Amino acid sequence: MHITMFGSGYVGLVSGVCFADFGHDVICVDKDAGKIEALLKGEIPIFEPGLEQLVADNVRAGRLSFSTDVMSSVAASDVVFIAVGTPSRRGDGHADLSYVYAAAREIAQHVKGFTVIVTKSTVPVGTGDEVERIIRETNPNADVAVVSNPEFLREGAAIEDFKRPDRIVIGLNDDRARGVMTEVYRPLYLNQAPLLFTARRTSELIKYAANAFLAMKITFINEIADLCEQIGADVQKVAKGIGMDKRIGDKFLHAGPGYGGSCFPKDTLALVKTAQDHDSPVRLIETTVAINDNRKRAMGRKVIAACDGSVRGKKIAILGLTFKPNTDDMRDAPSITIIQALLDGGANVHAYDPEGMEMAKEVIGPITYGSDPYEIAEGADAIVIVTEWDEFRALDLKRMKSLVKTPTIVDLRNIYPVAEVTKHGFSYFAIGKQNEKK
Ligand SMILES: NC(=O)c1ccc[n+]([C@@H]2O[C@H](COP(=O)([O-])OP(=O)(O)OC[C@H]3O[C@@H](n4cnc5c(N)ncnc54)[C@H](O)[C@@H]3O)[C@@H](O)[C@H]2O)c1
Repeated sequence: MHITMFGSGYVGLVSGVCFADFGHDVICVDKDAGKIEALLKGEIPIFEPGLEQLVADNVRAGRLSFSTDVMSSVAASDVVFIAVGTPSRRGDGHADLSYVYAAAREIAQHVKGFTVIVTKSTVPVGTGDEVERIIRETNPNADVAVVSNPEFLREGAAIEDFKRPDRIVIGLNDDRARGVMTEVYRPLYLNQAPLLFTARRTSELIKYAANAFLAMKITFINEIADLCEQIGADVQKVAKGIGMDKRIGDKFLHAGPGYGGSCFPKDTLALVKTAQDHDSPVRLIETTVAINDNRKRAMGRKVIAACDGSVRGKKIAILGLTFKPNTDDMRDAPSITIIQALLDGGANVHAYDPEGMEMAKEVIGPITYGSDPYEIAEGADAIVIVTEWDEFRALDLKRMKSLVKTPTIVDLRNIYPVAEVTKHGFSYFAIGKQNEKK
């Protein structure tokens, strides 16, 4: 199959290289010429484990290339994927579909012969209808089938997720696309990854319903964590106790500072807006969004409380900035709000993140960046673990204790056993457990 991937970001690049690895001929295009230029030089614009090697292998094998020449790549393609961004629209929280529609217009101008156009971006119900309308309006002679194929990969484990998905959802209204999509995913299909065919609108909703459900599950355990702190229970044990019930499952039950990232915040909000527009509000998700928004700033207050009620003039060392480990993605990371609350309280914030500092500089205010956890711990009044990178799981706490001014750790990811931290003389404030104050 000849495939063009519109958008070479987290989803487009990973999907494109994995399709190439399956044996298809893939051209990844992007309107950001700088990104394509970097990719042509073998530079990967994002941090994703295993991606650089897989790109290099497939470029060498001649199956993967990068281009800004949309015309020739689309004309030669059997399948064109749209994997451009769908951020929250400023002002109202609806998904901003301008990039998707712009891509549809460009594709329409250049398609030749029967072509399957696949929306991989996360888009509200009805977007496929509009993409189809735009293509027909732009090029009445275009012979296309417009398909929905939402992506479920997680940053940090994206290649593994793409190659071993729980399911592949394909929404189509034109049966000619069914065989083409089966061929595109054949290697996975042969490995028994279930292909779920639905109507296009149903497929579009599956993606939002999945993300909303997961966001709700995280928010549920976060509220239970708050309750644990008040009544003297341990949220990790509660999560284990309920997660062993197969009807509940143990995933997404880690209490923390609130969900963030490039998907959950914008997708929950977009679902709320779509549901309101259709006079069928999803109140559970409206509440989830509100609770999560409040939680991030509350985490700033938690740090302030751990510093005896004030951080004015105090040095706070932040470990981890990205919304989760193994990515450099800073979009809607809880650290942004937490750090703002600390800056508002007059703190001197020092931060270290293994991969996210370059991106953080674009979205976080005036803070100081360090080159490792020990450098920023020097003279600190509190250490705050915001992202659970592996390298923070085995800190030399004895060394840390000798560096800090006040031995206080606020662990917003519950990565340490309480006894391990307190034995080194630290006060320990975790999530959903009783504080251990020295
Ligand atoms: N990041 C994730 O973990 C993830 C997971 C599942 C689904 N999604 C969804 O996938 C979509 C893409 O997300 P992402 O994180 O890859 O975004 P991204 O911002 O990393 O990448 C989008 C890319 O599209 C390019 N682009 C925009 N308009 C274009 C056009 N007209 N032609 C060519 N390129 C164009 C941009 O320059 C950018 O490089 C979103 O809808 C997102 O919700 C993301």
